[in-house]
Amino acid sequence: MKRVKFYEKLLNEIEADIEIVIVVAKNFDQRFVDEYHELLQKAGFNGEQDETILLAEKGKLFVGADSINASDIRSASANAVRALSNSNFKIAKMATYLNHPKCTSVLRAQVEGLLLGGYKFDRYKSKKSDKGLHKIRISMEEYNGFEIDIPSIQRTVEKGIIGAEAVNFTRDIVNTAPDDCYPDIMAQIAKELCDKRDLECEILDVEQMKEEKMEALLAVGRASRHEPKLIHLSYKPQNPKAVISIVGKGLTYDSGGLSLKPADFMVTMKSDKSGGSAVLGIMKAVEELNLPIEVHGFIGAVENMIGGDAYKPDDVLVAKNGKTIEVRNTDAEGRLVLADVLCYAQEKVKADYIFDMATLTGACVVGVGNYTIGVMGFDNDPVSQIIYAADMLSGELTAKLPFNRYLKKTLKSEIADICNISNTRYGGAITAAMFLGEFIDEHHKNRWAHLDIAGPAFVEHAWGENPSGATGAGVRTLLRLLEKMSRGDGHGESDK
Ligand code: BES
Ligand code: ZN
Ligand code: ZN
Repeated sequence: MKRVKFYEKLLNEIEADIEIVIVVAKNFDQRFVDEYHELLQKAGFNGEQDETILLAEKGKLFVGADSINASDIRSASANAVRALSNSNFKIAKMATYLNHPKCTSVLRAQVEGLLLGGYKFDRYKSKKSDKGLHKIRISMEEYNGFEIDIPSIQRTVEKGIIGAEAVNFTRDIVNTAPDDCYPDIMAQIAKELCDKRDLECEILDVEQMKEEKMEALLAVGRASRHEPKLIHLSYKPQNPKAVISIVGKGLTYDSGGLSLKPADFMVTMKSDKSGGSAVLGIMKAVEELNLPIEVHGFIGAVENMIGGDAYKPDDVLVAKNGKTIEVRNTDAEGRLVLADVLCYAQEKVKADYIFDMATLTGACVVGVGNYTIGVMGFDNDPVSQIIYAADMLSGELTAKLPFNRYLKKTLKSEIADICNISNTRYGGAITAAMFLGEFIDEHHKNRWAHLDIAGPAFVEHAWGENPSGATGAGVRTLLRLLEKMSRGDGHGESDK
């Protein structure tokens, strides 16, 4: 699916092959649905959330939504497009669904859903299919009959497109096979992104990282034939309202290293670059949206492999801030990479907030499930900012996992300052985050939040507006938070 466009026209003035109609809250008497009521019931359509039925002869596809909340409309729109993905309909049209004349959040969700649901990754298919929608035309005809404000609607559609394209850009990188996307390729993607825009890009190679004393990151990457890279992108508008750093785990492959992963757990580990890929998507959107916020993206791009040169359990590493780390498991590599990148980011930029995104622990997936981001930190403020942005603005799911001093003790080492794994089987998402906390300096202590995206970043079946495979988790939440900071308030488009 390629494009969504707003037309200052009524539905019947717009040409299309098919019309998408949302049935809200199983109300078959509503506008645009009424005359098909009987037929829909005969066909066994119940109007459940995301349920679809195609009445091809009538030129309509119906999809159910529980309410006109942004998340319901986003998911319904995505599923409508997905239902048409094997059809030969090329152009669809749709009304808008507002629950308030001035509230544009549902429209933004609709646009996002259409583009996110239409995502297809066919890089490795020898025959590319041309099936599925190419264009979706959104009419100014409003489902509730509200008078709408055209310029604000157009801006909303534009923002929806930019956000969704950033997510799809991230998905493409994550879905790319590990031998086609290794650290140097990630660096090239970053450079290409910056070439065309108002973004700067700096890449550090192994020699430069040695000078920066990033021994932890370098140890993780040592056994790979692909050298690690540290990628720093920056977006610097004049008179920024805030300075934000975003750090991403970019493990282009995580075999586990010498603490090798079992075969079943190694599959999908190309997705261990999801945090770093999300940073790239966010930087792209921030620049396109022209936000009045200075944003720095840092990516530790590394491949965790085995070999004669591999780092080992029992090694002691010195991180950039001088702390010593006893390695007890080479599969807990993300935190080693992030330790150094977090130190580097904090040294380079004194940020108002610093966020990191990482597919850090299987324990987070066990704890909160496949669909939810775990959010952690020392202080309530940055954590709440993320949770608010996810819950109220973006439609992504989050759960707060609190630190405590007892879990902290489980990271103690007999011979070094800290171990890279804890001595208990439980609470692994929190202990990993508390490990990262050891590398946060005084200035950033109450300004840092960690997002463990191990669950939602890559899921092997489609859910809501997400396809199977990479989802681009974290992009929408961070983007909405940056937009909120740009406005300098807690209002604006709500997902509720
Ligand atoms: N990349 C993995 C975490 C992961 C697991 C991401 C499942 C996505 C899905 C991470 O590097 C890892 O291997 N963590 C270990 C830590 C353990 C050795 C303490 C884990 O979660 O098992
Ligand atoms: Zn690992
Ligand atoms: Zn990993």
